[in-house]
Amino acid sequence: MTTDTQLLWVLRSAEDGFTTGAELARQLGLTSAVVTGHIKELRKLGYEIEASPHLGYRLVSSPDALHAEDLLARLPKKRIVGRDIQVFQETASTNDVVEKLARDGVKEGVVVFAESQSKGRGRLGRKWVSPAKKGLWFSVLLRPPIRPVEATQLTVAAATALARAIQKQTKLSPDIKWPNDLLLHGRKVAGILTELSAEVDRVKHIILGIGLDVNQTASDFPADVRKLATSLKLECGRAIDRSALAAAILEELDRDYARICEGGFAALADEWESRCTTIGQNVTICIGERRVRGRAEALDDDGALLVRTEHGRLEPIIGGDVTVEK
Ligand code: BTN
Repeated sequence: MTTDTQLLWVLRSAEDGFTTGAELARQLGLTSAVVTGHIKELRKLGYEIEASPHLGYRLVSSPDALHAEDLLARLPKKRIVGRDIQVFQETASTNDVVEKLARDGVKEGVVVFAESQSKGRGRLGRKWVSPAKKGLWFSVLLRPPIRPVEATQLTVAAATALARAIQKQTKLSPDIKWPNDLLLHGRKVAGILTELSAEVDRVKHIILGIGLDVNQTASDFPADVRKLATSLKLECGRAIDRSALAAAILEELDRDYARICEGGFAALADEWESRCTTIGQNVTICIGERRVRGRAEALDDDGALLVRTEHGRLEPIIGGDVTVEK
């Protein structure tokens, strides 16, 4: 942990708001003069830190910008997801950055955020528009001890973690559309792109790419998706603190990831099913050239959607484009 991370961590955990300079110096093992220097640097980065001669320092607000130090300081100390965090001002796609880290042998848990992406991509080769500082665009590297067929479990974990974090931070309660879309009032607010590298019977790594529309206004969306998409700001009528939300998502994801690694997917699947609006609906799923029509009944142990087809068979579906029949 760097000094700035520790400093922000101590300021945030102050119960009555203020921490004296002497206490900060003691906890960080620094002189008061060095602490003052770090406070100045944080202010330059946009942190508003109140100073009172008697009470000490109080963190009033944080800038609307993602900083690795700040995000690290908001996370629980013991964790896998968010073990390391990198923030880029712009990149082509955070999934590509993480793919390179994975090939270089970096440990699981690293998270890469970008304030904007020039070539953000969605599922099925679609483009993902990622305007600067309007949303959360990030990717997580995981190396779970699971078989390739179970990889959908991670998409399910990401969807439930996202939904829970959004609910905690905004009181909005997103629906999940199988397998990877989060919806608010029928419009898409987030998507998950899960990319897998595997041998026949072993996952080498999984990249969870998450795109969440946070502070866009309607005109920030391209005309062709305006009617289909929404943002948290549009839904709750106020701007959302992206850093607090990002930290909440990573914390929830870390919890769900631990559950999966311990073989506890079933409990997660129950939570997912309770939010999933696809279950119980008649659906058409396009998998390349193939079309499956039927009724979505449940999730199986691997995270696949079980569809009762027109012919009465229960078919597990692990990918594809789902349309819910009206
Ligand atoms: C989808 O709904 O089709 C999935 C969208 C995933 C978008 C995210 S943004 C961060 C990461 N980098 C990308 O290029 N894509 C994912």
